[in-house]
Amino acid sequence: MDLTKIISFSLLFLSLLIPTTTTSTITCTNAVCRRDGPIIRFPFRLKHQQSPSCGYDKGFDLTCDINAVNRTTITLPFSGNFTVEEIDYAAQEIWINDPNNCLPQRILELNLNTTPFTGVYMRQFTFFNCPTSEYLRFRPLNPITCLSDKNSTVFATPSPRVINYLSSQSCRLMKTVYVPVRWPFYEQIVSSSDLSDNLWLTWRVPRCSRCEIKGGKCGVKSNSSSEIICSDVHKPGNYFYLFSP
Ligand SMILES: *[C@@H]1O[C@H](CO)[C@@H](O)[C@H](O)[C@H]1NC(C)=O
Ligand SMILES: *[C@@H]1O[C@H](CO)[C@@H](O)[C@H](O)[C@H]1NC(C)=O
Ligand SMILES: *[C@@H]1O[C@H](CO)[C@@H](O)[C@H](O)[C@H]1NC(C)=O
Ligand SMILES: *[C@@H]1O[C@H](CO)[C@@H](O)[C@H](O)[C@H]1NC(C)=O
Repeated sequence: MDLTKIISFSLLFLSLLIPTTTTSTITCTNAVCRRDGPIIRFPFRLKHQQSPSCGYDKGFDLTCDINAVNRTTITLPFSGNFTVEEIDYAAQEIWINDPNNCLPQRILELNLNTTPFTGVYMRQFTFFNCPTSEYLRFRPLNPITCLSDKNSTVFATPSPRVINYLSSQSCRLMKTVYVPVRWPFYEQIVSSSDLSDNLWLTWRVPRCSRCEIKGGKCGVKSNSSSEIICSDVHKPGNYFYLFSP
């Protein structure tokens, strides 16, 4: 081994020991509630396990529901507990669902006030309660089974055409609500939905998308401020230099 190679390797070794930036103040390790659960890191944090400064604020606190096979859980102040199915850190999106498998029930009472989240696409759905005995008239529509029983069948529709139709039948209009759906154009393509798909939410603050895409680590600058920094971004230049002959 010649001298330049020895120096190169020594530099590489040192660069692995010395962090590329020195501004990052708190080290937070990733967490999960269970093996197949979403990875929990800034701006989220696992309450009781990661320090408060590992998350952005209380709105991003998550817990593990030990009574429900350690499902990753978020508590929305006005709407209660939801299972976190997925977190996309680069897109700043979180997909949530009802731990009790009746999401439409939760949608009827959904209130995102004082949460950091809004819908990616918000679409209006109107809920109707129709007599089950007249099911033949509603056959093309997709019922919400968890809200229906022997006497009444519940439907939710975004389509003005279907709203007109059901209003003219012996159905009772229950409520019109906004639903954070996965795709736009629901009004045109969906006549009715059982609304069991995850709710798609996004957060605008803190803005970590660009840092995430660069492979950086987003976090608060110190545990007492809400200033965001992006650290540990790989600088390919360093490595090109080290491996040049
Ligand atoms: C839930 O997590 C706790 C703590 O990590 C663990 O002791 C327990 O076995 C887990 N339970 C299930 C059902 O996975
Ligand atoms: C919601 O989750 C929190 C935190 O895990 C828990 O303390 C609370 O009991 C849950 N509430 C309900 C209604 O399940
Ligand atoms: C259905 O209607 C009948 C007659 O009104 C009533 O006795 C019964 O309790 C209803 N069933 C349900 C599940 O609501
Ligand atoms: C910030 O961290 C330091 C050292 O870890 C700790 O002494 C201090 O109480 C923390 N401040 C806040 C506001 O959490």
